[in-house]
Amino acid sequence: MLWSAFSLGVFAVLASSAAAQQDGDVSPPSYPSPWVYGGAKDWADAYEKAVAFVSQLTLLEKVNLTTGVGWEGEACVGNTGSIPRLGIRGLCLQDSPLGIRFADLNSAFPSGMNAAATWSKDLMYARGQAMGAEHAGKGIDVQLGPVAGPIGRAPEGGRNWEGFSPDPVLTGVGMAQTIAGIQNSGVVACAKHYIGNEQEHFREAGTTDFAYSANIDDKTMHELYLWPFADAVRAGVGSVMCSYNQINNSYGSQNSYMLNYLLKNELDFQGFVVSDWWAQHNGVASALAGLDMTMAGDQGLASGDTYWGTNLTNAVLNGTIPQWRLDDMVVRIVSALYKVGRDPYNEPLVNFNSWTLNTTGYLHPQADEDFTQVNFHVDVQDDHATLIREMGAKSTVLLKNIKGALPLTKPKSLAVIGEDAHDNPGGPNACSDRGCDTGTLAMGWGSGTANFPYLISPVTALAQQAQTDGTTFTNVSNNYALDAIAAAVTGAEAAIVFGNADGGEAYITVDGNAGDRNNLTLWQNADNVIATVAANNPNTIIVLHTIGPVIIDAYKNHPNVTAILWAGLPGQESGNALTDVLYGKVNPQAKSVFTWGKDRADWGTDVLYNTTSEAPQLNFVEGNFIDYRHFDAAGIEPSYEFGFGLSYTTFNYSGLDIRKQYGSFYRPTKGTTPPASTYGTIDYNPADAEFPAGFHAVPLYVYPYLDGPLLSGQDDMVPPGSTDNSSQPRVPAGGAPGGNTGLYDIMYIVRCKVTNTGTVAGTEIPQLYISLGGPTDPKVVLRGFDELQLSVGRSKTFKYQITRRDISNWDPVTQNWVVSAYPKKVYIGSSSRNLLLSGVLA
Ligand SMILES: *[C@@H]1O[C@H](CO)[C@@H](O)[C@H](O)[C@H]1NC(C)=O
Ligand SMILES: *[C@@H]1O[C@H](CO)[C@@H](O)[C@H](O)[C@H]1NC(C)=O
Ligand SMILES: *[C@@H]1O[C@H](CO)[C@@H](O)[C@H](O)[C@H]1NC(C)=O
Ligand SMILES: *[C@@H]1O[C@H](CO)[C@@H](O)[C@H](O)[C@H]1NC(C)=O
Ligand SMILES: *[C@@H]1O[C@H](CO)[C@@H](O)[C@H](O)[C@H]1NC(C)=O
Ligand SMILES: *[C@@H]1O[C@H](CO)[C@@H](O)[C@H](O)[C@H]1NC(C)=O
Ligand SMILES: *[C@@H]1O[C@H](CO)[C@@H](O)[C@H](O)[C@H]1NC(C)=O
Ligand SMILES: *[C@@H]1O[C@H](CO)[C@@H](O)[C@H](O)[C@H]1NC(C)=O
Ligand SMILES: *[C@@H]1O[C@H](CO)[C@@H](O)[C@H](O)[C@H]1NC(C)=O
Ligand SMILES: *[C@@H]1O[C@H](CO)[C@@H](O)[C@H](O)[C@H]1NC(C)=O
Ligand SMILES: *[C@@H]1O[C@H](CO)[C@@H](O)[C@H](O)[C@H]1NC(C)=O
Repeated sequence: MLWSAFSLGVFAVLASSAAAQQDGDVSPPSYPSPWVYGGAKDWADAYEKAVAFVSQLTLLEKVNLTTGVGWEGEACVGNTGSIPRLGIRGLCLQDSPLGIRFADLNSAFPSGMNAAATWSKDLMYARGQAMGAEHAGKGIDVQLGPVAGPIGRAPEGGRNWEGFSPDPVLTGVGMAQTIAGIQNSGVVACAKHYIGNEQEHFREAGTTDFAYSANIDDKTMHELYLWPFADAVRAGVGSVMCSYNQINNSYGSQNSYMLNYLLKNELDFQGFVVSDWWAQHNGVASALAGLDMTMAGDQGLASGDTYWGTNLTNAVLNGTIPQWRLDDMVVRIVSALYKVGRDPYNEPLVNFNSWTLNTTGYLHPQADEDFTQVNFHVDVQDDHATLIREMGAKSTVLLKNIKGALPLTKPKSLAVIGEDAHDNPGGPNACSDRGCDTGTLAMGWGSGTANFPYLISPVTALAQQAQTDGTTFTNVSNNYALDAIAAAVTGAEAAIVFGNADGGEAYITVDGNAGDRNNLTLWQNADNVIATVAANNPNTIIVLHTIGPVIIDAYKNHPNVTAILWAGLPGQESGNALTDVLYGKVNPQAKSVFTWGKDRADWGTDVLYNTTSEAPQLNFVEGNFIDYRHFDAAGIEPSYEFGFGLSYTTFNYSGLDIRKQYGSFYRPTKGTTPPASTYGTIDYNPADAEFPAGFHAVPLYVYPYLDGPLLSGQDDMVPPGSTDNSSQPRVPAGGAPGGNTGLYDIMYIVRCKVTNTGTVAGTEIPQLYISLGGPTDPKVVLRGFDELQLSVGRSKTFKYQITRRDISNWDPVTQNWVVSAYPKKVYIGSSSRNLLLSGVLA
């Protein structure tokens, strides 16, 4: 019996005669939904406080905390109902992973991808903490980030830049550091989008009857896509957002295997699962499959109806959803607040409004009700500009630097060329949600954005530097004025030419790109601009602002191109950060977080753009082999490999030392959980769940009240076991947030010496790779890295503690991690292909 048939997608797939091997994969059922019981030690205190809080709530109050009030019902992009009886306002959930969306007097931080490109754990943490502080300052409870899905399976993926890197370890570190930073600032982080949300095309039903299904096998799930979410859970993340797409033909918001089994059981997640906005497809099925909060609360954008709210109240009253499941939802939500130090009794005012930057506006903008002061213009920027500038510089990857082109020292003349160097004439926020590619690119488009307080364009910062140095300065912004460009660069001591490639979320199409990029080449006619500059100036320096890799092999090999820099999406201090690198005020340390191929086909993965299927099947047949793992396995030479990046100095690696650690044994987790509990008593009289007399209901607003007689007797499928409240077995790989604690035992300590052998101070990122040795394993996989600041001639020790998890594979048969018998090797180097030291892990 396929209870995953709850996902209507299954019917469609079975009906269409599927061709490829994985077409029609189904997700095994997993019930009941695991309840929290205070067993996780980092959560015990939050859990106890949450239980005390939840125990006093009525059914309607509990339902209120699980359900969004509907789109534009309140100030934030997501708002739960409130508890007026206790003076408690609704919770505020707000985009985005790089700053506060739809606000003023906030900062626009570098993208997640840029945070990863620093390879600096300290900076990743600092960014999280600063973003969290800004959200806290506006009264926000939950920041909707960071992102590990998409991880970046296909380089064309429109939202890859919101996350960190196609490498799961680098992404996992980015997740953990960002979450720790956000939550230490007192804001709940939200790890998203769980999971397989690897492209924008067909992510939702619309042009097709069903959203695409990401068909991912168990081993790939564990070793690649789930890995960074495990790090997020281990870091104590308070919430996880389930994705729009289906996984094995079951929607992310009601896939019981993904939510109940993998997330809440195996990873022992203690916080709450919130749906992506309108990603919920069924009220009862999603509740039993492990969803804890629905957003935006309405069934469709401002549709006024809801799968929960009234319907959840109804489902509890008619006995379909057991009280323990509702109570568990609410305990998880309130635990997350306490975990980060929020006090539900003393929530600060939400002092901004997503729907207007004006001082006054509507409290309920969808209904145009209650006009009052809604924006208190609280300046939350602090000195974050300093961090943003530092991160912009330290995330700029120096890909090529010949003939001593960089750093620049008071050039006599300088030409700055390209639209991407210049300001958007309408201002940096001219396009809503950054939905255009006009002027310099400093973030992609979609919900993962923030308003720029200002944006320092490259031309502004470079012109200022030129003025300081007495450099003759020319610039051309028009990418079609090729004659003027040729004239401007001829004879200039250096010519800096800019190009970009943009992408974003599916609801905005820019130049025919519906979120995902249509190609891997530059935008704005930049290839012709670069060709013109390089044909006329022997010291051509290319700067790229792109959301991912672009094809640049021709420039790598062009003799007049003396330098190439990738600056990614650096945020508001773009021009200043770039100038710091170009002029050597910051010595570049960044390493590429993805592979640069020579041809689109090199990656072996791509976006599905066109389909005749009503339930498009994305079969992840490449398994673990995305990005560098694929290039290595297929023997494809990239232009620049994963982990590559130059410095203005040089480093030497020596003295590899490997120490085996003894005495730890891996114990599969055994035993059972306690039975489910309920907190407080529920009044099962439907009459008490109706709208209170004289209640004014805001139009299009979602409420918990019954709306007429109790609906009963309808045939909602309740999967076997889903209402079982008895003790449940724990899973062998589980037992603690992030999985079995034995996975994090230290098996080897590896050290080497890194020396600055050049003539200027610099920072090196030593990278540790492991070969797991099996016939189906990638050649090498990244496992650790560090950031070593070295003055001239100085040496420091790079040390990494290899854990059991680092040398394990997922075994689908035993459903556990195993260390295979294949011989394993460790490598340390400066990129995934420059592996300078190696040794055997005996
Ligand atoms: C998806 O199907 C594959 C192949 O049957 C299986 O290995 C995997 O565990 C399934 N995953 C989910 C989430 O259902
Ligand atoms: C539920 O939340 C709504 C919106 O905030 C509020 O108007 C209503 O009074 C709340 N109901 C209960 C029972 O607390
Ligand atoms: C309850 O759910 C049903 C089925 O989706 C829907 O038709 C109805 O409008 C919902 N009720 C409310 C009050 O939104
Ligand atoms: C902001 O105020 C201006 C001027 O009063 C008004 O025209 C505009 O509609 C307001 N914007 C919103 C979103 O309320
Ligand atoms: C040079 O840059 C300035 C400042 O952005 C701009 O106003 C001007 O139009 C640019 N010049 C050309 C020829 O594009
Ligand atoms: C790739 O897409 C961009 C943006 O739509 C476009 O400007 C460019 O011309 C395209 N490249 C090619 C080779 O068609
Ligand atoms: C390099 O630039 C010079 C102008 O200084 C030009 O004459 C030459 O053709 C260029 N080389 C190439 C390969 O374009
Ligand atoms: C997808 O179909 C559109 C027409 O609907 C066509 O223009 C486009 O070239 C197709 N894209 C691919 C990648 O086949
Ligand atoms: C790097 O260090 C090793 C060991 O100390 C030494 O043999 C080698 O010559 C050094 N290489 C460079 C380029 O300095
Ligand atoms: C557990 O289920 C049993 C049988 O349905 C019921 O009697 C008991 O009250 C339930 N306990 C809780 C805590 O829900
Ligand atoms: C109980 O209520 C839910 C939510 O309104 C409804 O979907 C379901 O059909 C009802 N089931 C029964 C057995 O009454």
